[in-house]
Amino acid sequence: MRVLVVTGAGISAESGIPTFRGAGGYWRNLDPTKLATQSAFDSDPEIVWQWYRERRDTIRRAQPNNAHRAVTRLSAAADEFLLLTQNVDDLHLRAEWDGYTIPGDQLVQIHGDIFVTQCERGDYSMRENANDDSGVSRCPKCGGRMRPGVVWFGEGLNPREVARVDNYVRARPCSAVIVIGTTVAFDYIVHWTRLATGRRGRLIEINPDDRFLSALGAEWVKEPAASALPGIVDELLAARKPS
Ligand code: OAD
Repeated sequence: MRVLVVTGAGISAESGIPTFRGAGGYWRNLDPTKLATQSAFDSDPEIVWQWYRERRDTIRRAQPNNAHRAVTRLSAAADEFLLLTQNVDDLHLRAEWDGYTIPGDQLVQIHGDIFVTQCERGDYSMRENANDDSGVSRCPKCGGRMRPGVVWFGEGLNPREVARVDNYVRARPCSAVIVIGTTVAFDYIVHWTRLATGRRGRLIEINPDDRFLSALGAEWVKEPAASALPGIVDELLAARKPS
């Protein structure tokens, strides 16, 4: 049983974290070019940091939900597994199943990690603990400004993380691909989903509001992830061929 799970902001919605483009989403009320770009950081780094710190606090107060836990369960049960998440929150990392959490080599945070603070010049970075600094801190190595460890609009993805996903989806097709809570805003998500599904893989899209993968022949589960995914994982595990 070889599985790829792709997640977006929708999987964390039921944990109280706003999506971007869904109802009440960040980009419905805020202008991404003013908050999630290098030029926004250059023109007003304080406001950019303020927004990321507010999001960090929201995430710290949030708990993984049944969908996050179901993904962890699938990671534990599948023979081969990769979780490709666009989310910068740490709910997938915190989600436990039977004391098991998803190992780092089975998780790709393709848009980065909001709790990482990195030098905008060099390679220095650190993971924030509970007590976040204020203001714009400076790199202890080169004095450069420190910025949130996330991918901003107009920026390239981390080539190491891209290679990890490429290697997984190109190695051999998956028996199941599950895409959860995303508007599939980026082509690379469609590209990797198509490659992983191949000609015979089962492709499932979970989204209570819209569907974006009908062109790839996806089964659409028009339900919130936390109520839909546990049953789908039950079904996949019950249907798996004895190895
Ligand atoms: P979006 O906000 O674009 O999409 C979230 C989707 O989840 C919407 O279709 C919602 O309707 C749906 N949704 C809402 N509640 C749900 C629930 N309970 N269960 C399942 N689905 C639900 O978020 P993403 O697709 O993740 O990138 O956005 C992709 C990227 O764009 C983000 O990673 C971020 C953003 O700008 C960067 O900042 C680089």
